[in-house]
Amino acid sequence: MQNDTMQGLSRTHYCGDLRESDIGREVTVCGFVQKNRDKGALVFVDLRDRTGVVQLMFDDNTPPELRKKAAGVRAEYVLMARGKLRERAAKNPELPTGSVEVFVEDLRILSRAATPPFEITDKTNVNEELRLRHRFLDLRRGEMQQNIMLRHRVAKVARDFFDRNGFIEVETPMLIKSTPEGARDYLVPSRVHPGQFYALPQSPQIFKQLLMLSGYDRYMQIAKCFRDEDLRADRQPEFTQIDLEMSFVTEEDVYAINEAFIAELFDKVLGVTVPRPFKRLPYHEAMSRYGSDKPDTRFGLELTDLGDALKGCEFKVFAGALEGGGSVRGINAKGAAAILSRKEIDKLTEVVKTYKAGGLAFTRWTDEAESSSYEKFLSDNEKAAVRASLGAQQGDVLLIVADQSDDTVLTALGALRLELAQRLDLIKPNTYDLLWVVDFPLLEHDEEGGRYIAKHHPFTSPKLEDVDRLESDPGSVRARAYDMVLNGSEIGGGSIRISDPQLQQRMFAALGMDEQTQRERFGFLLDAFEYGVPPHGGLAFGLDRLVMLLCGSSSIRDVIAFPKVQNASDLMAECPTPVGQKELDELGLSVKK
Ligand code: AMO
Repeated sequence: MQNDTMQGLSRTHYCGDLRESDIGREVTVCGFVQKNRDKGALVFVDLRDRTGVVQLMFDDNTPPELRKKAAGVRAEYVLMARGKLRERAAKNPELPTGSVEVFVEDLRILSRAATPPFEITDKTNVNEELRLRHRFLDLRRGEMQQNIMLRHRVAKVARDFFDRNGFIEVETPMLIKSTPEGARDYLVPSRVHPGQFYALPQSPQIFKQLLMLSGYDRYMQIAKCFRDEDLRADRQPEFTQIDLEMSFVTEEDVYAINEAFIAELFDKVLGVTVPRPFKRLPYHEAMSRYGSDKPDTRFGLELTDLGDALKGCEFKVFAGALEGGGSVRGINAKGAAAILSRKEIDKLTEVVKTYKAGGLAFTRWTDEAESSSYEKFLSDNEKAAVRASLGAQQGDVLLIVADQSDDTVLTALGALRLELAQRLDLIKPNTYDLLWVVDFPLLEHDEEGGRYIAKHHPFTSPKLEDVDRLESDPGSVRARAYDMVLNGSEIGGGSIRISDPQLQQRMFAALGMDEQTQRERFGFLLDAFEYGVPPHGGLAFGLDRLVMLLCGSSSIRDVIAFPKVQNASDLMAECPTPVGQKELDELGLSVKK
């Protein structure tokens, strides 16, 4: 069957834009068939484009040929229709276009469509794998289109905001030198230099610093980044940053401009006013109160250190943890005894176990009775002290983790806290909690590698007052680094950078790089630093994560047009794929079987 052409017609309106005020106008609309209903004398076709749906109608005044043509269209056919906009007899108050319909005089079938593997509806419970295999169809769904258009808005607000504030967008290269620090690089083989490789950038970090050194003063870029790391719900191997860098600034300047940006973004995209200045939480306080360096502070359930209450106690689990240099900490789930049954507490135990905790000690203090997994092992004084520390009252559930590693206790309780908030329904929808986490440690000890690694990256400046300890007590040095956290997600991170070549070399040395390695990997940066460096600092937002939270979505894949899945493959294009022997030969590569 031959398709029609658009000849002689051109679109006058988007489907979703038509309103009662347009009644009487001649309009031409285009789009996809959502559905059609053939009622004999009456035929209705819902036509959809990215703005919404409008009803096309054909009745007994329609020439029979045309009515027959309309009755024959099927879901996802691509149509163009010209006609008069009329008031609808049976109005649909749910739809913005629900009071109008197009009485069609000219209908063109521009393309026919096979039956799609799933129905194109706004919301869907079709399994994600099927959706991703046919992403081009999934992207037709209203929900996906709203997400992708919101993403566009965010990028546009970012460009406009930073442009207005004197930032210059500069593109930095995609084929760069591999410098194994942080995540694994994606490597690209060079044909011209067999056996040699470029890396795809994990971020434009070094280039944006060089741009400061080159005098550009304020840089921004919406930049693609690539990291070969394990994927999670909020991570992709390729993702996008809103990346920026500024010269002659301190932390306060970076906070101020980025709070202003986020405020403008929330206002323009969601119509929400966010209070400023944002809260600031030192890293150690975030960890000890919330068990997380990206705390969600929309609800309480704070952690309490029970070390003092349990000093000298004989219960092995607690005593062993304290004596082994670890900790005992707890959370009071206020008033939760009625909600958290024994069975529920068993499920919570599984949660802390996935974070390497040995178990979860509890007291459940209901109206009638109390049950506890540990109180019988404590003296009356210890029991009273634990209850007092946690502010326990009848109706509460006390949940305690003990371990010889304080980190394990903190992360397990941090995860438990989030799980409890879900189960106890403590998070109000459409609330936004923005804060800075500051005073991060500069370095963290990597047990496996037996050396220190940069907590943020090797270019982050230590706090000036801590610099003296870089060699003698590296673990105690704090960084001039900061993360911005939204509802318990790290949406951005940055730092004031090292701008002194000697200090940069000391930092590389603290990371275990000898002079030769430093020269090999970062010689160009160290050389550049010899020629005058403005003090500088910056930050990068994770655009995908930010959009995900603004959309209220729980998966980063829902805001990326063509995402990868857990094992880093693209289900639609079916990649990665092997390449031919000829291509391998050209690159001087062979694949280990
Ligand atoms: P960082 O590594 O903290 O900093 O990254 C900045 C932000 O990018 C987002 N992000 C990711 N989003 C999706 N998938 C990923 N795999 C992923 N990894 C990171 C996060 C994070 O906060 N060059 C520095 C920035 C700087 O110092 O200015 C950097 O890349 O939201």
